[in-house]
Formats: sequence, structure tokens, C-alpha cells
Amino acid sequence: MPTVEILSLGSLPDGAAKSLAERFTVRGLADNLAAIRGIARGGGHSPVDGTLIDRLPKLDIIANFGVGYDGIDVVRAAERGVLVTNTPDVLTEEVADVALALLLMTVRELSAAERYLRAGKWAGGTPYPLTGTLRDRTIGIAGFGRIGGALARRLDAMQVPVVYHARHPRPETPYRYYADLHAMAVDVDTLVAILPGGPQTRNCINAGVLKALGVNGVFVNIGRGSAVDETALIAALREGTIRVAGLDVFADEPAVPPELIALPNAVLLPHVGSASTYTRAAMGQLMFDNLKNWFEQGEPLTPVPETPWPRKA
Ligand code: 8YV
Repeated sequence: MPTVEILSLGSLPDGAAKSLAERFTVRGLADNLAAIRGIARGGGHSPVDGTLIDRLPKLDIIANFGVGYDGIDVVRAAERGVLVTNTPDVLTEEVADVALALLLMTVRELSAAERYLRAGKWAGGTPYPLTGTLRDRTIGIAGFGRIGGALARRLDAMQVPVVYHARHPRPETPYRYYADLHAMAVDVDTLVAILPGGPQTRNCINAGVLKALGVNGVFVNIGRGSAVDETALIAALREGTIRVAGLDVFADEPAVPPELIALPNAVLLPHVGSASTYTRAAMGQLMFDNLKNWFEQGEPLTPVPETPWPRKA
């Protein structure tokens, strides 16, 4: 019996690549794509745009390796009746860990302090200067989904107050809700962005929001670089409009603006939020299971809300 043909894009953990090759016929972009029924979209953010979707007449499902799927044209997929799945939950705690790490690295200057030791300055007799603290801060979380909730739990344990901005209030949580992002930025000094990418959030962290954080402001981004006006952020850091930024994501990855790299008050990570062997394996497994379940049982495990599931009769 011929196996289902899957187009594999980007990189996948070994386990997922192996499972895919065992269960399906795996093709690449250079192959004949006429019989492709599913896409396994691995890491590296290869776009799945309308042009690609329309090249695949038999396409049924796009399984994304990652929780964010802004690189996939979900509108075109929905029009074509193609399902999109992502990998929520399995990466929540890992990404929340890195958000907390960025808060500590920025506020307590941990990476700068390490560089200080390695440069021999501590041994030279001068202790590292005293730093800011989380003790006198209020954290505003912009984008309050699963990862935001997991970060809030960590901050609760640390007795740091949390408020949030999201499209809809989450009355089941104890935190104050702001419908307006700017209004939240006025009230807090520390902003953590966990916003999805795409046109709805593009540049929503702008010069005005950064100014509202104030001169003691800390900005952390663990969601998508496109949600921030990077030019405005660079200016705010350079001019001391805010104090420091901690970034795991950028507008044009893997390119990071040299102006940002040159700034001493920016902590920069190469998009490692979910990048542990353990969590990437779990993401790969869930991506594969979505394809397997769809082709064997007719049901995706974790479909995204924009594409048509359950299917209309
Ligand atoms: C991964 C992510 O870097 O899940 C996401 O949305 O941004 C990260 O976990 C990415 O999906 C794999 O390249």
C-alpha cells in the first residue's frame, strides 16, 4: 500500500525525523509535490505561504513544529480547508523558564557580572556594582496564554506582583487585567512580551509603550520579534528612555541588528526559549502525532483555532 506523502520543511529533532520517515513517504521542495497530503514544518521558520499551499492540490494538513505559527498563511489554509496544527503545552514550562532567566539577567545583570569576573575585574579587587532588583517591581505580561500563566506562577512564588494585557480578560486568574497595552505600561516598570507574531501584533510595542515604562523600565521579549518596533527599542535603550532589554526573539532572525549587539544594556539570546533536547523532542513527537492521528484516525490532536475543525459536514 502506498504511504501518505509528506513534505518536510526545515529541521526536526532526530526522533521526529525518524518517525516521519518510518511512517510516511517524506519529500523535499525539489521533489514532485503533486501527491503531498501533509506538511511537517520544522524549525528554521521556513514560510508556508499561499503560493506553496496552492502548489499542493492534495494538501490536507500542515503540522507545525512550534507553538507560534505566524509563518503559515492560516487564512489561505482555512480557505482551502487545510488544517493547521501546532505544539502547545509541551514547551510552556521551558519557555517560561527562559522568560524568568531574562528577567534575572537584565535586572540583576547576571551575564554582565559573569563577564566582569572572567575579565579579572573582581580578582582585581573591585566588587561588581550593586544592581537593580525584582523586589520593587511590578511585571506586566503582554500576551497572557499558557506561557504567560506559567511565568506568572513563577513570579507568584517569588512574591513579585503581576498584571497582564491580552485580547480577553482571564477572570479565573487573580491578576489585574488591562485591555490597553499602553495603560499597562504606564502602571508597570517591567514588561514581558509573549505575543504571537502576525499583522495583529506587528510593532505594538512601540516608542510610546517603551516611554511609558519609564527610565527604570525593563523590557523582555520571548514571543515574536515582529511585535516590537526594533528601531524604537534601539533608540529607547540608547537614549536611556528605558533601562535594559532582554531579548530571545528578533524581527529578522537569525539577523540581529548590529546596533542592538553594540548596546551594553541589552541581553541577547539566539531564540533558545524552547531549545532543550527534552522539550524539542516532545515538540517533534507532538508534531508527528498530529500527522499520524490525522491520517490514521481522522482527528488532529492540537489544531489551531483559525482552521476548520471540527470540519463542517
Ligand atoms: C521554536 C518557537 O524556536 O514554538 C515557537 O513558536 O518560537 C520556538 O519554540 C520554533 O518553533 C522552532 O524553530
